[in-house]
Amino acid sequence: MAATPGISSSSSSSSLMSYLLYFSVILTLILSSLEKGFALEENQRPRTVEPHPVSHTVELNSLLPATSCSPSSSAKGGESKESSSSSVLKVVHKHGPCSRINKNKSKTLTHAQILNQDQARVDSIHSLFNTNKSPSTTTVGKPRPSAAATIPAQSGSVLGSGNYIVNVGLGSPKKQLSLIFDTGSDLTWTQCRPCAGSCYDQKEPIFDPATSASYVNVSCNSATCSQLASATGYNPRCYTSTCIYTIGYGDRSFSVGYFGKERLSLTSTDVFDGFLFGCGQNNQGHFGGAAGLLGLGRDNISLVEQSALKYNRFFSYCLPSTSSGTGYLRFGKGGRSSKGVKFTPLVDVSDSGSFYGLNVVGISVGGKKLPISGEVFSSSGTIIDSGTVITRLQATAYRALRDAFRQQMKSYTSAPALSILDTCYDFSNVKTPTYPKISFAFGGGMTLDLDETGILYVASADQVCLAFAGNGDDSDVGIFGNVQQKRLQVVYDVGGRKIGFAPAGCP
Ligand SMILES: *[C@@H]1O[C@H](CO)[C@@H](O)[C@H](O)[C@H]1NC(C)=O
Ligand SMILES: *[C@@H]1O[C@H](CO)[C@@H](O)[C@H](O)[C@H]1NC(C)=O
Ligand SMILES: *[C@@H]1O[C@H](CO)[C@@H](O)[C@H](O)[C@H]1NC(C)=O
Repeated sequence: MAATPGISSSSSSSSLMSYLLYFSVILTLILSSLEKGFALEENQRPRTVEPHPVSHTVELNSLLPATSCSPSSSAKGGESKESSSSSVLKVVHKHGPCSRINKNKSKTLTHAQILNQDQARVDSIHSLFNTNKSPSTTTVGKPRPSAAATIPAQSGSVLGSGNYIVNVGLGSPKKQLSLIFDTGSDLTWTQCRPCAGSCYDQKEPIFDPATSASYVNVSCNSATCSQLASATGYNPRCYTSTCIYTIGYGDRSFSVGYFGKERLSLTSTDVFDGFLFGCGQNNQGHFGGAAGLLGLGRDNISLVEQSALKYNRFFSYCLPSTSSGTGYLRFGKGGRSSKGVKFTPLVDVSDSGSFYGLNVVGISVGGKKLPISGEVFSSSGTIIDSGTVITRLQATAYRALRDAFRQQMKSYTSAPALSILDTCYDFSNVKTPTYPKISFAFGGGMTLDLDETGILYVASADQVCLAFAGNGDDSDVGIFGNVQQKRLQVVYDVGGRKIGFAPAGCP
């Protein structure tokens, strides 16, 4: 790691600097130990052919992202005001042409890199759930007065790279920032200092609290400061009476800095004073040029909870079908009806506070229910996550899905595996491929048909893969990822304890 910039101009900054340096090294060690192998087992069980499969036939071109941004008309301008109690932000893919932080082509990740980072996020999520099963903490290094660190053996959060971003305003006057929005994280944070050392990212835009009239530090003796432990998985620290947060991600990215309060402007009219957020002094890793992260998890530090009085814990989003399209993130229900939205109960999976749980009871491929015992899903549970790219199924469930899918795709030429994706096809001579529909059955008798763009991961015309992967173990939690959420209107009615879906929510 390269040198950490001084955190203030006073001479007392050196002790915090050494804490940051020390901590960064420890964090890297901890996070690297979280990386674990990932293997899929082969299964040659024969299956009977379904005579009349229910399928999609689409133009291959429609699954490929355009090289230029094609914003949806409803989302133009970045924000819109719908009623007195809801507001809408434009959502773009971090790596797509609509993202203004994606101007340097040479820094664009390959598909294999994106998928490998996705696996790092998933490993980190799995370790969180395993931590909850058998709590363990590790005291790292010899206790020192300023640098003793008791860190949970498994870290608190997950970043990943297949993410979507929104623009919000922070401070007064407000600075527009591109933040990754993440339903699997609680703490919102932004880079208040340029990324130091081994950064993969450009260094802008950055939020500087010194240029804002409304920034306030949170004191480390406050109850607010102690809330960080549950929201981030790291105990807060103290530096000249300012509360210090730490957040580390499964891909070894991390952010350490002041816990502060600031004016957050979601739109020009929806403004929150005293919004709690992390003002990052030392940020490193794969932020893809984003200025930070907007935490939409379930802990009470999340934006959903901090804006509960206004929006009543109700938000929804739509992720665009390709990385060149735009979707939306809407806070509040406003006067809108939920017509066409089918709901399933929001469930708690294990004790993992941040994540929203779904009760998956079955999966169908090509109109045929897969022979998977309900216990496979119920014993480990499933979460929905905006930041995981590829849906992870319990190993047994994935094998059944893959076998059924392969059976119905027998007439196509296969292509090499791509990172975690083991079922790929070469469509270079196929203009309009036909592939089976996939549906999920959820608790409460709800069935969700995935959009036609939510089934395949298109790396290129000659490598189009089934966009699902299996967990190494049936006991690891399943994850309903963002490829499978494409184009769906996804509604989180957290107060009403339900999650809903409607088709064709955005282009
Ligand atoms: C793009 O990234 C490369 C590799 O990091 C760097 O050398 C180059 O200067 C960057 N170009 C611009 C325009 O920022
Ligand atoms: C916040 O705390 C840091 C560290 O103590 C200090 O350098 C900075 O000036 C404080 N900012 C404000 C606005 O009080
Ligand atoms: C979060 O919960 C704690 C403890 O229950 C409470 O003291 C605190 O006020 C809550 N914070 C917010 C932002 O709701």
